[in-house]
Amino acid sequence: MRIVLGVGGGIAAYKVASLLRLFTEAGHDVTVIPTEAATRFVGVATWEALSGHPVSNSVFDDVHTVNHVRLGHEAELIVVAPATADLLARAATGQANDLLSNTLLMAGDCPVLMAPAMHTEMWQHPATQANVETLRSRGVTVLEPASGRLTGSDSGPGRLPEPEAIFEAALALAGAPAVPNSPDVPAPDAVPSSPAPGRPLAGLTVTISAGGTREPLDPVRFLGNRSSGKQGVALASAARDAGARVRLLAAHMDVPPPAGVDVIRVETALELRKAALHAAADSDVIIMAAAVADFRPADVAGTKIKKRDDVADPVITLVRNPDILRELVEVRDAASRTQLIVGFAAETGDADGDVLDYADAKLRRKACDLLVVNHVGQDKVFGEDTNSVVILSRTGSEPQEASGSKSDVAAAVIDRISAELSRVVPPA
Ligand code: CTP
Repeated sequence: MRIVLGVGGGIAAYKVASLLRLFTEAGHDVTVIPTEAATRFVGVATWEALSGHPVSNSVFDDVHTVNHVRLGHEAELIVVAPATADLLARAATGQANDLLSNTLLMAGDCPVLMAPAMHTEMWQHPATQANVETLRSRGVTVLEPASGRLTGSDSGPGRLPEPEAIFEAALALAGAPAVPNSPDVPAPDAVPSSPAPGRPLAGLTVTISAGGTREPLDPVRFLGNRSSGKQGVALASAARDAGARVRLLAAHMDVPPPAGVDVIRVETALELRKAALHAAADSDVIIMAAAVADFRPADVAGTKIKKRDDVADPVITLVRNPDILRELVEVRDAASRTQLIVGFAAETGDADGDVLDYADAKLRRKACDLLVVNHVGQDKVFGEDTNSVVILSRTGSEPQEASGSKSDVAAAVIDRISAELSRVVPPA
């Protein structure tokens, strides 16, 4: 595969030499385009030696070959690492002031992955976040930076994800095998139209909601829940590893999102509803693993609610949030879309019925295709690293049990989704 590797001007540029090595050792043909600033961290000679190609960052070198047009048109994958705040801004605003930004503008349908690295303040700045949103809305995959020690004494989100994580995410995006081409592994051109073994969701878009919504009471307080987001994140990784393009609708989570998935942050149930309905338009699978608040405060105070001796203590009135899962099913059916919708349910049994009785009723009420049922209560599930579920299907097939780490459960759910999809749309 022909890859353009854009390198931004950040200290993490040195790590990109390992990324380049991973690509070339896997048999890919890589042209490196560093920015002017990147060459202050790692020199052109290093990129030329490791890639085996001449390296330039100016549109005025080799003018007769019209480099940016050729590179942009020929690339089958463009990876930018580290994507600095400046580079994200230039890409988002469509600037064309060096060879890399010109090449990005010439990229057309070529998949583009950007791996940001910068100080936490720069990453979290509304300007950078707006640029990231813009790029994602145009189909660019912008990875979440890793958290940890940064260049100075500071630490937080902003580290370049590990080269191996970028490598895997990039090849997953391009739909290429992560190992060198060999007689056992078909070259990308020879990949059959039915999903490759081990990548049953290749070519599909999977939207997954995760974490717990937070419903504000005033500028500092909210009603929340104990969801850690771990199961949703494990599902996102499993769907990505199965070859899907994954969109994670992330409510509050205790864990970072995985590399190689598009992340859309949401806070409240209403924000999640909007993001989910928008994402549903091009999703083949939707998994609602988020713990959505059923109620929200009827009024949100514009200023902090104060305790006052001369006024009665406040009474909080709640109103019902929309049932997003139910609405997704209704919209799908109204639009006659082929789309698999999966719900999650946290259930307890009582004197009137056991967990499965209640789960069965919920499956009928929500009308989703699969319902993954957690048995909650006492010390179970929330924040834990293990899980035990039963997967119920609307077709009435036998309930299937899965337990183990949240990754094991996620793998079982993704396997079950793949099996359901191949029943609905048999491979060509
Ligand atoms: N869900 C949703 N919108 C809501 C509440 C829940 O989409 N307002 C989704 C969850 O993401 C999950 C499924 O519905 O996939 C079941 O959530 P759960 O809270 O167990 O169901 P409820 O409908 O809230 O039922 P209950 O009356 O048992 O709370």
